[in-house]
Amino acid sequence: MSRVLIIGCGGVASVAIHKCCQVSEVFTDICIASRTRSKCDALAAKLAPTTQTKITTAQVDADKVTEVKRLIEAYKPDLVMNLALPYQDLTIMEACLACKVSYLDTANYEPEDTNNPAWRAIYEKRCHEEGFSAHFDYSWQLAYQEKFKEAGLTAILGCGFDPGVSQAYCAYAAKHEFDTIDTIDILDCNGGDHGHPFATNFNSEINLREVSAPGSYWEEGRWVEIPPMSIKRQYDFDQVGLRDMYLLHHEEIESLAKHIPGVKRIRFFMTFGQSYLTHMKCLQNCGLLSTAPVEFNGQRIVPLQFLKSLLPDPASLGPRTVGKTNIGCIFTGTKDGKPKTYYIYNICDHQECYHEVGSQAVSYTTGVPAMCGALMFLTGKWRLKGVHTVEEFDPDPFLETLSKYGLPHRESTTPQLVD
Ligand SMILES: NC(=O)c1ccc[n+]([C@@H]2O[C@H](COP(=O)([O-])OP(=O)(O)OC[C@H]3O[C@@H](n4cnc5c(N)ncnc54)[C@H](OP(=O)(O)O)[C@@H]3O)[C@@H](O)[C@H]2O)c1
Repeated sequence: MSRVLIIGCGGVASVAIHKCCQVSEVFTDICIASRTRSKCDALAAKLAPTTQTKITTAQVDADKVTEVKRLIEAYKPDLVMNLALPYQDLTIMEACLACKVSYLDTANYEPEDTNNPAWRAIYEKRCHEEGFSAHFDYSWQLAYQEKFKEAGLTAILGCGFDPGVSQAYCAYAAKHEFDTIDTIDILDCNGGDHGHPFATNFNSEINLREVSAPGSYWEEGRWVEIPPMSIKRQYDFDQVGLRDMYLLHHEEIESLAKHIPGVKRIRFFMTFGQSYLTHMKCLQNCGLLSTAPVEFNGQRIVPLQFLKSLLPDPASLGPRTVGKTNIGCIFTGTKDGKPKTYYIYNICDHQECYHEVGSQAVSYTTGVPAMCGALMFLTGKWRLKGVHTVEEFDPDPFLETLSKYGLPHRESTTPQLVD
């Protein structure tokens, strides 16, 4: 019997909420709270006839700690799932701490306004000291480590697919498959086609910020940063086929470098078609990916937010997306004194996801792990106190639960390696 407050009601949250309602013996009560309450009400009305879970809804501006605190105090949840945007991570964590409730999210903190001088001063120092220039890193949330520990609370960071399952795959490989891991390549392939000339598969503002930034990887104890999309490889993905993929910076590289002992190199690759890249370059050249506000007809607008308002809502892509995603990790290392390679991955079909929960596979592969991570916490399997990333928890019950709720893994010990 658990009460869970879910903040956000977009593409990812919708899947997680559908899945919570499939496990109503644990998720007995959920409150869906978001900026636009009508979306929460519509989803609650759709799900209510199908589940024993008692669903309520609320309006909240999660940028405001006091509003989140008021909601937590009124609802008294056992866990808060932050499925809104990375911009809200710190305000929601702050409210959780004040109200003594545990926390889970799917992406690490990033500020909405990257021109804020106070934030920029800390950011520029970090770029200089650490050697990567992404606008997000774990330091902001890890700053809550001691406070969460002292309060006896758990914060589970980045519990989607990547970050999230990708780190559980690493923990699993370290626990069962290797004595030492030398290299990790995380490969994220979306072989889906939504038929639009240009659209993103999750929140377009967050997505375009991420993919237009410089890439970076971890090698021999330090970051190597490269210009955006400047390392390209081809990979023949199981059930998808040959795709171009590009090296990106990705948040889990930072935590894996800390938690996988002796690892020499960690890279992250994501597939993109040429048309996507050409559109993105053009939008960037026109200034539409900028997060710096501009004056337009007497109004201040952020170009990237304006662009987001023109692009298809990722939550609307479900019915029209066909094809599969294939996301996983390739490892090299040693076991029992012998060299070993190992690939663990999941394949997910966009249309199967749509028929099950009304969403495409990118939302599905994020929302299902969020529900499974919450289930790990609520059933007492993941109870480390403090602020932790997914590879710090036992991967076994998590992978078992992912398989049960729609994301089974496949394995190979003879994968094609990435050069
Ligand atoms: N780990 C992974 O594998 C992975 C993969 C994909 C996405 N993600 C993360 O998943 C999260 C959700 O993505 P999505 O595609 O579901 O985004 P989305 O469709 O844009 O949904 C975001 C939701 O958050 C709500 N929201 C935004 N600001 C808010 C505020 N101040 N207060 C309350 N609610 C607010 C939005 O409300 P409105 O309806 O009013 O806009 C919307 O319901 C993002 O953080 C993204 O980075 C993680």
